[in-house]
Order: sequence, then C-alpha cells, then structure tokens
Amino acid sequence: MCGIVGYIGFKEAFPILLKGLKRLEYRGYDSSGVVLLEEETLQLFKKKGKVKELEQFVEGEQLAGNIGIGHTRWATHGVPNDLNAHPHLSFDGNMAMIHNGIIENYANLKQILVDNGFEFKSETDTEVLLNYIQFLKNKDLLSLEMALQQALQQVKGTYCILLLSVDEPNVLFAARKGSPLVIGIGKNEFFLASDATPLLGYTNEVFYPNNEEIIILRRHDYQVINFNGEQVTPVIQELLMEEKAIEKGGFDHYMLKEMYEQPESFTNCLRGRIQLDTGTLIKTEDIRSWVSLFQKAPRIIIVSCGSSWHAGLLGEYWIEELARIPVEVEYASEFRYRNPIIYPGDIVLAISQSGETADTLVALEKAKDQGALIFSIVNVVGSSIPRMSDAYAYTHSGPEIGVASTKTFLGQLGVLMLLAMSIAEEKNSISSERIMTLGKEMIRLPHLIEEVLKQHDHIKSVVKSYTSATDVLFLGRGYNFPIALEGALKLKEISYIHAEGYPAAEMKHGPIALVDEHLPVVFLATKDNCYEKIISNIQEIKARGGKIIALATEGDQIVPALAKDTFFLPETDELLAPFLNVIVLQLFSYEMGIQKGLDVDQPRNLAKSVTVE
Ligand code: F6R
Repeated sequence: MCGIVGYIGFKEAFPILLKGLKRLEYRGYDSSGVVLLEEETLQLFKKKGKVKELEQFVEGEQLAGNIGIGHTRWATHGVPNDLNAHPHLSFDGNMAMIHNGIIENYANLKQILVDNGFEFKSETDTEVLLNYIQFLKNKDLLSLEMALQQALQQVKGTYCILLLSVDEPNVLFAARKGSPLVIGIGKNEFFLASDATPLLGYTNEVFYPNNEEIIILRRHDYQVINFNGEQVTPVIQELLMEEKAIEKGGFDHYMLKEMYEQPESFTNCLRGRIQLDTGTLIKTEDIRSWVSLFQKAPRIIIVSCGSSWHAGLLGEYWIEELARIPVEVEYASEFRYRNPIIYPGDIVLAISQSGETADTLVALEKAKDQGALIFSIVNVVGSSIPRMSDAYAYTHSGPEIGVASTKTFLGQLGVLMLLAMSIAEEKNSISSERIMTLGKEMIRLPHLIEEVLKQHDHIKSVVKSYTSATDVLFLGRGYNFPIALEGALKLKEISYIHAEGYPAAEMKHGPIALVDEHLPVVFLATKDNCYEKIISNIQEIKARGGKIIALATEGDQIVPALAKDTFFLPETDELLAPFLNVIVLQLFSYEMGIQKGLDVDQPRNLAKSVTVE
C-alpha cells in the first residue's frame, strides 16, 4: 500500500519520479505528489486522485532538481485530499517526507508536538513523524542522522520513509521497518522504490535494506546503518526482471494481459519442477528442500489473506488428500492476534503474491517466535516474506500489475499442487501411478487453459444479461468450493457487485433465503465425486426461480439442461479442475467490470500490496 520513489544523481529527477509513480500506482491511487530539492529549496507538488491528475497539475511548472521523492497514496490516516497527499513538509518548511505504513503511536507524539507549539496541515501520521524528527533535531541540536535514529527508536508501527532536508542538500535519507524498499545502484546515482519496477531501464544492480535500517545516499556513495548507528553491509543482487514484463503489450488492461499470460506463467511455475514432457517430478534442490522440511511435519498451518487464503484452502484439500498431513488454514489477520497452539516441528506456510502483506508478515514472526518452521509461496522475488522464511518457493508468475490477482493465484495453486505431490511421492502416501497420472495432467494444463481462454467471447456475450445484478451467489463443493470463494471475491473487486461464495450444500442453512428470480447463481458443476450432489443443489435453486449460470464439463448434458447459461470446460482430473474453472470466473468478473464501465486494473479503495494491517 502506497508507492514510494526516490532519485539522487545528476539527471532531472521529475521524469524519473513520474515514470516510477505510474509503475507503482497499483499500490494506491488516492493521491500522488513529489518534492524536488534544488539549490537548497524544496519544491512541492501534490494532488488528490491518480498520477495523471498530478501530471496535469504540474503542467507549465519549473520542475528542476536532481534529487527528489515521490509518492502515490492509499489513504490510512486522513481522507484522500490534496492536504493529506504526500510528500509532507515539516513545520519549519525545511524537510520533506514520504511514508508507506502506519505510525501507531502518532497520537502520543502529536501531543508532545502540540504542547511544543507545532501546527499541522494534514491529518496524517506521516506529518507527525516528520515533525517529531524536526523537534528532536532542534531540541537536542542533533544532526539529521541522529535525530532520525532517535525518532525511529521511539516510533511504533511500520514504515518506509524517504526524507529530504535543505540543511543537507546533497543527501537522500531512507529508512524502513516492515514496509518494502529496494535501492538501485547506478553510476553516481541511486534509485529508490517500493518495488523494483521503477528501476527497470535504469539499473539492474540492487539491494533490499533489512528492517530497522537507515540508508544515507549521496551521489557518489552510500551508507547503511541500523537504528543504533552501527554500519551494515548490504547484499548487492542482480535484478532479473525485464521491462517488457510490466508493459501492457497491446492489451487494453493489465488484468486482461495477465489472464492471457496464464498458459505461459503456469508453464514457468512448473518449469524445473516437473518434466514438461513426461510429467515426472524433478528432484531439484528446490523440491528436495521442500520435501525434507515437510515429510516429517506433524501439521501444517497455512496463513494468508484474500485470494491467497483461497489458494491456501485448496492447498489444505490437496495436501490432506495426497500427502496425508493435517492442515489448518488461517486468516493471517486473525492468527496474529489469537493465541494459537504450535507444536514442535509444525510448519507455518505463508502464501502471498506480494511477499509484503503486513498481516502475513506479523503472523509469521509470531509463529517463528513460537518455534515453527516457516515456508512461503511468494511471487515477488526478494520481498520480505521469503527473506524471513526457512525455505520458500517462488510462483514465477512474473510481475502482476492489475490489482486483482489472476496469474499469481494460478501460480500459487501450481506450487501447492507440486508440493502436495512431491511430499506424497516421498511418503508413499499415494500410489506412484496416481502421481504419474497427476503429473501428466499437470503438464497438459497450460494447453487446457488456452482452450478455456478461447471462451472469452462467449463469456462476454453471456455477461450482458447480468450487468444489472445487485447480488450473485457462487456455489461449489469439494475442490471447487475455494474457487467459488475466489469467484465471488473477484466479482466484488472488479464489478462492485455484491457476491458470496458458499459450499453448495451450505446454502440450505441460510443463503437460500436470498434466492428469487433476480438472483444469478453461479454453479461450479464440473464432473467430480460431488457431481450428483451438486445437480441436486442446482435443482433446489432452480425450483426457487434462481437464474443458473453453470460451469460444466464438455459433453455434459444434464447441467446445461438445468442452467440458463453454461460455460463448458475441458475434462481433466477432478483435483485439477480448479485450475480451469477459475479462469472462467476471472473472465466473467473482468467482463462484468468492463461492461459496467469500471476501472478493472485499479478498482476503487483497493491496493495491490497491503502493507498496513
Ligand atoms: C484479490 C487480491 C487480494 C490478495 C490479498 C493478499 O484479488 O489480490 O485479496 O490476495 O491482499 O495479498 P498477498 O497475496 O500479496 O499477500
């Protein structure tokens, strides 16, 4: 949540910052702003709304300066408006700061400042932190570096901050705890950002500062210290991402591009882990490390949020079915505040596209403190969650810019299935023939996904009859239940239509009261061991006038006869049907959003990386 960018060097900073903000806009789009530092003056420009509003706002302005910081906001403290937009200036006007995160003890700090005559322009916690630094600096006649260290020792919460001061006109300060930051090293210049995308095209030499570190950047050198002032040597890495991976590539929307990338991104997830011609699991270092970690685990606790939680739920079904290890699935936000029982040897498995979700990170810290081993499934390389894990697996889905997760969800499912299969193979908990059948079917999935994508036009025309719906129910059983939840979440996010996902048999225990002739009910009714049961559930809804939209296996004649509209899916193993069914539901939500004229890439109130709790 919130995207931050910074530049120090000899180039004009503004174009670099603007480009970076556009790339980070998926992290929040309530407002944006920049500060440029030039000849000991701070020039501030900020505006409510998306980055394009800022771009229009600065037209005709002198935008000189080769040091600068920029921010795109997802509002936490204070409504989205010009005043609450970042950057903020200190009370004396000499410093500017941007911030991603939450300062939890800001009210106490603000009281101290008010008692000392400080006044505030915004309602943000950021302005409080900035003024607190100014307060300490002036009160104890400290250097900015010392004041920053002391302030951060007293601050509770999470943050990544970038700070400029007219008193130090050749320095850019950064610090982080909890919120992400990557620093790109150029020739006599540095680039800073919340993720690596703004760095592409400038440098591929990067480092990721750790929690509780301060980075002091001058044009020709940099220094990293911890909050006690001790020197730290960062690990420099090569950035492997390519610029074209973050472009729309001819598609109207990132979400569309990312859905269509799924045959390829899923193949990348399988590559090196399963023989792409035979479907045999490959005993790579990667997989061996997973298996040795998991095979003796008494229990697995999956922690995650949102779509990643839905992937976790499916992971539970697969791991218990194939590897016979008991699994629990928890919302990270609940797990972190309760008193869970963790046994020695338990593995806490985090699933996170961004690798930065605040609740998931804290849940892992808690689990680690209680002696659990941590395994994570993450898409963003170098992010915080894999860095704190005992072992991890990347989904290799490539950058996902659309705010709703699509290809990364599929990647999470891919890793979970490979994990379940590889532990099962090691433990002999299912027959080698069954593993072989699943492996062969897994490598067929990219082709089957392509087939499903070909239904896009049909889905588009079906959706036309449903755009005025105010509520939609998604019902599935067994392996399709988590996909029903995911379908409902996607529809809510992208089309703002209220939707609920339920296990199909559960609807009799309450939700069936919602059914009338206006309610579309999406049934995931592909062939599996619950097929006959779900037909009965369809009948129950039909008898009450609900409009049935069904996902059915090609060749099925029973389900289409009951449904108003049917989407046909190629036949596959029942364990793997979710990989295909979810694609239909993604396209369904996308088309609903498009046909309602909504911004599918940046739906209202959302942000891609939820770095605040
Ligand atoms: C929905 C979506 C969110 C995320 C959730 C967790 O489309 O993307 O529900 O799944 O915010 O985020 P990560 O996976 O980054 O931990």
